[in-house]
Amino acid sequence: MRYLITGAAGFLGSALANRLAAIDNVVLGLDDLSTGDPNSLNQQVQLTVGDVNDRPKLWSLLQRVDCVYHLAAMVSVQESVLYPREYNHVNVGGTVTLMEAMRDVGVRRVVFISSGTVYGNQPQQPVNESAIPNPRAPYAVSKVAAEYYVKSIGSLWGIETVCLRVFNAYGPGQHIPPVHTPVIPSFLRQAAENGTIVIHGDGSQTRDYVYVDDVVEGMISAADAPDVNQLTINIGSGTETSVKELSRLAVELTGGKPEIVYNPRSEGGLSRLCADISAARQLLDYEPKIELSDGLAKTLAFINGKAQHNNTSAD
Ligand SMILES: NC(=O)c1ccc[n+]([C@@H]2O[C@H](COP(=O)([O-])OP(=O)(O)OC[C@H]3O[C@@H](n4cnc5c(N)ncnc54)[C@H](O)[C@@H]3O)[C@@H](O)[C@H]2O)c1
Repeated sequence: MRYLITGAAGFLGSALANRLAAIDNVVLGLDDLSTGDPNSLNQQVQLTVGDVNDRPKLWSLLQRVDCVYHLAAMVSVQESVLYPREYNHVNVGGTVTLMEAMRDVGVRRVVFISSGTVYGNQPQQPVNESAIPNPRAPYAVSKVAAEYYVKSIGSLWGIETVCLRVFNAYGPGQHIPPVHTPVIPSFLRQAAENGTIVIHGDGSQTRDYVYVDDVVEGMISAADAPDVNQLTINIGSGTETSVKELSRLAVELTGGKPEIVYNPRSEGGLSRLCADISAARQLLDYEPKIELSDGLAKTLAFINGKAQHNNTSAD
């Protein structure tokens, strides 16, 4: 198979690209490197640096491609509150540009990576795909809008579409920005360095943390699963974990003694979010394999390895 992955140099994109290339596929990547790291890609992956809104570039890259994975996006919920126009331009505009280019060239299937955040607060947990999205931040709105564009342009032009709503993915290779750091690398780092873990709200808010390799398995199945055209499918662990419990696990695993500070004034975000993964089980033969404690250990080993490498390079 010949694949194009947008956002290929990112956390999930690079894990997917490397895995697909390792099983003898031709893998092309497109990434503007705004947050992605080209060094995260194995040599077999052919990376083109460029913008997902660049239609002529997409025309060339899409030639003879069987399946497109669309991951290129701006991904910070908090940042999207400040820059909704940019989020709309890249996440919605970029998706429409890609779908137009796919229509022009003719591609069999697109797998769009959406997000569990589209659900917002839902009375019923775990949440299944029939729940009406209740997006709270521009990032989540952009993902819902992009889902609709993918489905509508796909059905108008005979392109098979699958939207995967990925929940809180984590693992080695996760991009760690200096601000709005994702909760898992942040807690692990603070715990290991005896720093400060800040818990927003009272820590009872729950999330569904899914390990990167499990997400990759779900994405790979979506490329050739039958009977999934036009469907939206949750990809999570199916397990609900509170932020308080996550901090406990981080402390236990690292053996550190961080200060744990609760900030009751700041909102902890959605009160509960957990994926019902029955559809993925049934349609994609998906079964998450990595327990949170094992995934955290692998992530910590990666963070420590990277820190050691940086220290050695600096010597
Ligand atoms: N990580 C998660 O927990 C999670 C959960 C749900 C959905 N997702 C979705 O998965 C996808 C990948 O997320 P990630 O966590 O790997 O984030 P990431 O930031 O590591 O990856 C996004 C990639 O897109 C690239 N990119 C951004 N704007 C671009 C543009 N205009 N043109 C080309 N490339 C561009 C970035 O350089 C980056 O490499 C995103 O669509 C995100 O919304 C991620």
